[in-house]
Amino acid sequence: MKILVIGGGGREHAIIKKLAESDKKPELYCAPGNGGISEDAICVPFKAVDKESAVKFALDNKIDMVMVAPDDPLSLGMVDDLEAAGIRAFGPVAKAAQIEASKVFSKALMKKYNIPTADYEVFTDSNEAIEYLKRPEQKYPAVIKADGLALGKGVIIAPDFDAACEAVKGMLDDGMFGKSGSRVVIEEFMTGPEVTVLAFTDGKTVKPMVSSQDHKRVFDGDKGPNTGGMGAFSPSANYTDEIADICMNTIFKPTVEALAAEGIKYKGVIYFGLMLTPNGPKVVEYNSRFGDPETQCVLPRLDTDLIDIFDAVIDEKLDEIDIKWKKEAACCVVVASGGYPVKYQSGYEISGLDEASKTGVTVYHAGTKKDNGKFYNAGGRVLGITALGGTLQDAIAKAYEGVEKISWTDSFYRKDIGRK
Ligand code: AMP
Ligand code: GLY
Repeated sequence: MKILVIGGGGREHAIIKKLAESDKKPELYCAPGNGGISEDAICVPFKAVDKESAVKFALDNKIDMVMVAPDDPLSLGMVDDLEAAGIRAFGPVAKAAQIEASKVFSKALMKKYNIPTADYEVFTDSNEAIEYLKRPEQKYPAVIKADGLALGKGVIIAPDFDAACEAVKGMLDDGMFGKSGSRVVIEEFMTGPEVTVLAFTDGKTVKPMVSSQDHKRVFDGDKGPNTGGMGAFSPSANYTDEIADICMNTIFKPTVEALAAEGIKYKGVIYFGLMLTPNGPKVVEYNSRFGDPETQCVLPRLDTDLIDIFDAVIDEKLDEIDIKWKKEAACCVVVASGGYPVKYQSGYEISGLDEASKTGVTVYHAGTKKDNGKFYNAGGRVLGITALGGTLQDAIAKAYEGVEKISWTDSFYRKDIGRK
């Protein structure tokens, strides 16, 4: 059986390594992949957003299943095109991927179907937005969000009126996020611990995965600018069975039902970014895919064949499959290039990869290049080092044992992953 995974980061490496564990012994391909992924799959050099190449490659090579991992090809309709060409594809169609690609869409869906989330208003005109921010009842900080995809940078927490005006003008008048910022959502600031729950759905049944939490800020103690994620752990101690039940009944099921009621069949993974507020769990954001780096600590805990799950989703038989999880906890520490997320140098040789693997960790490659058997950094986030452990403390200690073996010029990592 041949499977093509679209994407080329740590998340895709984790998906590929899990697929490789299957008894079905799949022949794995990845486009574009990266240096590390090339050890586990045949890398195909086309861009993740290149829909035509994906369809052509799948047809020419008789690919049995295409798994589309990143947000952009999903929102551009890669799954729609693959399905139209008769190719089995895992991931939501473009209409369904709007839950991530448009915050205006997802907020309206939640409002219409009473799914708990922050109160909000939508604006296209900066003067109207500023008038709204002047209302006496407006509280600060205020949260200003660009409607569309913005590489995870489209959310500004504005501490006061001036900062909020600057954010609104930047998005609506100065095009700081291009077309993605031509509509903005101004929403209520919520408080409480954040939890990520990824869930499989076939449009009817929803099966949540184990919980996780990521660390978005670049430096220890949640300091510095936001990044794509500097590490993650699973499970989250805040996500109790009781809270899981509430989320299932007030958020997960209602979301899939709401989409179905709108005539949208959502098949794939929904990423529920949740905040456990004093008034109960609320949705911070939806993503239309596996999270990165959450996947690097969630999938290692999966104890069921991932191909069977993908098949069950595609065939709309998710209710028939029992998905099992390991009891062990997991911790993933990201090792990044010096200067990330602002400016960094690529092309330094990475040392210590074999020594790290000997400690028992799994090394996921997010941004590496392979040349003559050696690995070089080729991105901001370069590696994700994951360990499982009997307790989260064990997993953290083991992950750092591996991390400490690895280095290249100016490489760095957070020392407090899992200690939220
Ligand atoms: P997002 O890209 O929507 O996940 O937002 C990025 C981060 O901004 C989230 O992980 C939260 O930490 C924070 N955030 C977003 N919306 C809110 C909100 N309404 N209240 C408080 N924090 C928020
Ligand atoms: N870790 C956040 C995301 O995948 O969007």
